[in-house]
Amino acid sequence: MQEKLKEIQALALSEIEKATSSAEVEEIRVKYLGKKGELTIILRGMKDVSPEERPLVGKMVNEVKAVLEEKLEAVAKEIKGKEKNEKLANEVIDISLPGKKARLGKRHPLDLTLENMKNIFVSMGFTIEEGPEIELDRYNFEALNIPKNHPARSEQDTFYINDNLVLRTQTSPVQVRTMEKQSLPIKMISPGKVYRSDDVDATHSPIFYQMEGLVIDKGVTFADLKGTLELFAKKMFGEKVKTKFRPHHFPFTEPSAEMDATCFVCNGEGCKVCKGSGWIEILGCGMVHPEVLRNCGIDPEVYSGFAFGFGVDRMVMLKYGIDDIRLLYESDMRFLDQF
Ligand code: DAH
Repeated sequence: MQEKLKEIQALALSEIEKATSSAEVEEIRVKYLGKKGELTIILRGMKDVSPEERPLVGKMVNEVKAVLEEKLEAVAKEIKGKEKNEKLANEVIDISLPGKKARLGKRHPLDLTLENMKNIFVSMGFTIEEGPEIELDRYNFEALNIPKNHPARSEQDTFYINDNLVLRTQTSPVQVRTMEKQSLPIKMISPGKVYRSDDVDATHSPIFYQMEGLVIDKGVTFADLKGTLELFAKKMFGEKVKTKFRPHHFPFTEPSAEMDATCFVCNGEGCKVCKGSGWIEILGCGMVHPEVLRNCGIDPEVYSGFAFGFGVDRMVMLKYGIDDIRLLYESDMRFLDQF
């Protein structure tokens, strides 16, 4: 019996020695020490051993068991360590691989120009007002002296949501909203998106930007309009710029005008940008029509005011020499990266 136990021990130890994985170690443990393991079977057969030999054999079996358990544990630990290192080695991160670049966005030239314009007017004491892009027909047309059959409606053909709701064709409705809700005097600008059902080409986009301005107080005259807009032109295009006002017609101002500025590319000499004239059209303006004041509950006998409206896209295109409005709305980074 003693011989047999020694044999089992030697065999088991050599098997454990050769094991290369945790699974193999476990297999060996089951083979010798498991419920049906070789040592367990010997322990169970103790009843057949003679009473004199029993204590000795029992002691030996327990010793062998202890030796095997100790060895199993040591080898299992060693193998686990190796397996962990292998796993780490296989999962290693190659820090020399180029990473994914997070692309930084850029300020859009429209945004830059709008900020520039806003700063100039805010420095002159103007507030900034907002209005909805989905607008009531009443605010977009009716209250601005553009009744249903007015030809200006077809010039500003828009997207109707229903008979009463339109995508605003101009920022001018914010004039009406401001006059309705604010106490006087008013001195505001309102930049924002406007919509017209124009076909897309180099100078037309169904979405574009405008900036409205409105000043209402007692005793406001055309001289105030000229002074304000001339100062704006100087701050926007430089001290040397000259301005002129041409008579024009808008339904919501009387008298109305368009303001031109000397071309900031050629300083009035005549070039490609100003088409040889030396002048560039900047904005529409005029004295607020008495009918519009009345529509907003303001007495034209007591108050007067002036209004103006820019096409912001046009300003951007002129400023940066961009000849196609579509570039402003295509989000092509090759274009936008230049600003
Ligand atoms: N709303 C006009 C347009 O879209 C621009 C304009 C002209 C606005 C004269 C004004 C103004 O406030 O006084 O063509």
